[in-house]
Amino acid sequence: MQTAVPIRVDYEQPEAAGACSTHQAWARVPAEPTQAERTALKTRIRELLKARNAVMVSHYYVHPDLQDLAEETGGLVSDSLEMARFGRDHAAQTLVVSGVRFMGETAKILSPEKRVLMPDLDATCSLDLGCPAAEFSAFCDAHPDRTVVVYANTSAAVKARADWLVTSSCALDIVRALKERGQKILWAPDRHLGGYIQRETGADMVFWNGACIVHDEFKAFELQALKAEHPGAKVLVHPESPADVVVLADAVGSTSGILKAAREMDAKEFIVATDNGMMHKLRTLNPGKVFIEAPTAGNSATCKSCAHCPWMAMNGLAGLAQVLETGTNEIKVDAALGQRARLPIDRMLAFTEALKAGRPVTGLVPNIGAA
Ligand code: 13P
Ligand code: SF4
Repeated sequence: MQTAVPIRVDYEQPEAAGACSTHQAWARVPAEPTQAERTALKTRIRELLKARNAVMVSHYYVHPDLQDLAEETGGLVSDSLEMARFGRDHAAQTLVVSGVRFMGETAKILSPEKRVLMPDLDATCSLDLGCPAAEFSAFCDAHPDRTVVVYANTSAAVKARADWLVTSSCALDIVRALKERGQKILWAPDRHLGGYIQRETGADMVFWNGACIVHDEFKAFELQALKAEHPGAKVLVHPESPADVVVLADAVGSTSGILKAAREMDAKEFIVATDNGMMHKLRTLNPGKVFIEAPTAGNSATCKSCAHCPWMAMNGLAGLAQVLETGTNEIKVDAALGQRARLPIDRMLAFTEALKAGRPVTGLVPNIGAA
């Protein structure tokens, strides 16, 4: 694999990037409300959603309360691709996104006329932090012959340099189609996901050297030991995990891919290598099955995230109620930047919609290049 650039940002000191470090994020994770507080907050949020013509869009990694409330009130809990599509298509004029900042920014880019609120605007992502726009732009300039494919977990400014956006649920299909058109790829920022796509498609790719602090911690040696203890268990892995973990998987997929595999695979036990926020949906949708967290730390080692994203954990009921009450924590994206960043997102959505409908996707592929 050709890796061109180092990770740029220390996740413990990202203040220079105007973001919240993992330590700061853990310190800002809201305390668990009591049962009485939880009931009162949920009631207030339901009222405010109606009063503000707002809808909730939550990711699978946020607190179960925020997942359940989204579904209960006509919103959505899903992977990052479907969050983007749902926010774009829903009639509500206010979207309340529980997740991390790039998810709110994508919603705003796709619906500049809507108000997009988030419980905590400092909830970021190590992939986004590790790929500053200026350095990324220089990397693109150094490879003018390559089609620029970026992962959704990036800033609006990085998306604005891209030809294509992908999420982990559509990256394989899109890169395969580009390869069939003879295109060489510049990939950013997740080196593990990029490596997986490269191994699966054989595409000619150069890589930015970013990683997800949650998935990067899964350990192959310990996973093998856990598999030996549970010989009947199937292993489900998110492709942001290291290659030696991915190779042990019975199914590799995005968060929605993992849910689908758990539902469809004929097994009673599953070992799951992704953020443990996923366990809520896996367990409620599959009551007869057992889900075990994949190991994140080797013998006597410690882990930074222990399979839970500190930035996802910053989302809570109280923050959600407050932003609905006050209208604070609104996502803003510069209009011109948003217009340029929208191109690769629109391409991804058009491609995946065509694929789903069984329409030819090849016609969409040549239509790339800088705006
Ligand atoms: P999905 O697109 O699979 O939901 O992943 C988003 C993410 O941030 C994974 O860490
Ligand atoms: Fe980013 Fe990883 Fe958190 Fe997903 S789990 S938002 S990739 S840091």
